[in-house]
Amino acid sequence: MDTPAYERRIRWLHALMALALLAQLVFGFALNEIAPRGTPARGLVINLHKSCGLLLLGLALLRLYWRQRGPAPGWPVSMSAWQIRAAVWGHRALYACMLLMPLSAYLASNFSKHGVKFFGLLLPPWGPELPAVYSVFNGFHKGLAWVFTALILGHIAMALKHHLVDRDGLLQRIKP
Ligand code: HEM
Repeated sequence: MDTPAYERRIRWLHALMALALLAQLVFGFALNEIAPRGTPARGLVINLHKSCGLLLLGLALLRLYWRQRGPAPGWPVSMSAWQIRAAVWGHRALYACMLLMPLSAYLASNFSKHGVKFFGLLLPPWGPELPAVYSVFNGFHKGLAWVFTALILGHIAMALKHHLVDRDGLLQRIKP
């Protein structure tokens, strides 16, 4: 390894969020199979998805807070300028998705009569019931889910390339 590792707490949080975000994406895509619209379980399942998503927003904010307190380790010397630029923008896009996925859906929920039940605690909607506004934010949430999935797959592919082809220790420095 030619660069220092991330702080221990950041490596653990990265692993936790990686697993939780993948699970949340799968959960989201499977919502209609798990509890089709109009079935009694629908409300419970949707609210579980909403609650987990808001928890993930909290973790993303914690990650950003820690990140701006201590700079990330530098890039391996073997990486060219364009590779570094691509990695930086890829990471920025991942952070944007981590924030915008839950925020867009949280906004949508507040323009529907349902609001959010955060693990059973009702957070009453602060907005009026406006189906058109709900549809815009909900459509954004659903569209972004595909962008986020593609970015995560690209992120994993690049991590494997660094590990197996470049062998530059990049994966080692983020592993818990
Ligand atoms: C990082 C956090 C989140 C991720 C990764 C995520 C992921 C997803 C995915 C993949 C879908 C399915 C999209 C599709 O059908 O094509 C979905 C649907 C949905 N999500 Fe999320 N979600 C997150 C947070 C939230 C939050 C915080 C809320 C609400 C407060 C929420 C509410 C919903 C609802 C209501 C649907 C169903 C939309 C519909 O079928 O009309 N999600 N989510």
